[in-house]
Amino acid sequence: METFDCIESRKSVRKYDKKDVPNEMIAEIITAGTYAPSAGNTQEWEFIIVKDSEKKKKLSEASLDQNQVREAPAIIAVLANLEKIEMKYKERGKEVYSLQDTAACIQNMLLATHDLGLGACWVGAFDEEDVSSILGLPGKTRPVAMLTIGFPLSYQPAEKSYRIPFERLAWQENYGQELKWFMDYSRRSRFEWKPLDQQIEELTKRLEKLREERKGLEKKESSLWSRIKAIFKKPKE
Ligand SMILES: Cc1cc2nc3c(=O)[nH]c(=O)nc-3n(C[C@H](O)[C@H](O)[C@H](O)COP(=O)(O)O)c2cc1C
Repeated sequence: METFDCIESRKSVRKYDKKDVPNEMIAEIITAGTYAPSAGNTQEWEFIIVKDSEKKKKLSEASLDQNQVREAPAIIAVLANLEKIEMKYKERGKEVYSLQDTAACIQNMLLATHDLGLGACWVGAFDEEDVSSILGLPGKTRPVAMLTIGFPLSYQPAEKSYRIPFERLAWQENYGQELKWFMDYSRRSRFEWKPLDQQIEELTKRLEKLREERKGLEKKESSLWSRIKAIFKKPKE
C-alpha cells in the first residue's frame, strides 16, 4: 500500500474474525515496530504476544472489560524497559522518552498491521498493576499498550473518525499565528471512504477494463508467436 494511503485509511478495528493471526504476520508487525526511532537508539521496547483465551479474558478484565481484548485472536503487549532508558537518560528517559519511543513503535506496528490487511486497536485503558501481574512482568518494565489484532469482520463502520482540520492546530512561527499558505492547499483527503456497493461497482469496472486489456495483449502475443514460428519454418536460402 502506498504510504500516505496507509496512514490515512488506517482506523481502529475492534471486531475481528475468529481466524488466527499467523505468527509470520506477527513477526512482520513487530519488525515494523522496531524500525521506529528511539532516543539515542535505545530501543527500550519489548513485546509479549498473547493468544491464550484464559489470559486474554484476564487482560480484558484488567482493561475495563473491553470486548476486543477478550475477542481478538492475538494481542501484542508493548512494554517499556525503564531500566534501559533510565540508565542513559535518567528521569527524562524514564518519564518521557520511554513513552515517546514506544508510541512511535506502536504507530509503526498499527500501520504494518493495516498494510497486511489486518485490523487493530491500540488499548491504553487498563490497570497497569493488574496487566503487569497477568503478564509476569519484572520490575521496571512498564506495560504501555496492548494492540488487539485480527482479521477485520467484513462489516465495519463506514466512517473514519473525525479529524480536527489542521489550520486549527498548526501555527506559523509563533503559537496562534495563522498559516497564511494554508488555503493554497486542497484539504480533500487523498483517501475517500466510499460505501461498499460503490466500491464494488468501481472495482468491477476496473476488473472489466483489465480483462479487456488482457484480451488485447493475448491477441498481440499470439500474433507475435505466429511470426516467430514463421521465421523458424522458413527454409534456409
Ligand atoms: C494512547 C491511546 C489509548 C487508547 N486506548 C484505547 C482503549 O483503551 N480502547 C479503545 O477502544 N481504543 C483506544 N484507543 C484508540 C482511540 O480511541 C482511537 O485511536 C481514536 O478514537 C481515533 O480513531 P482511529 O484510530 O479509528 O483513527 C487509544 C488510542 C491511544 C492513542
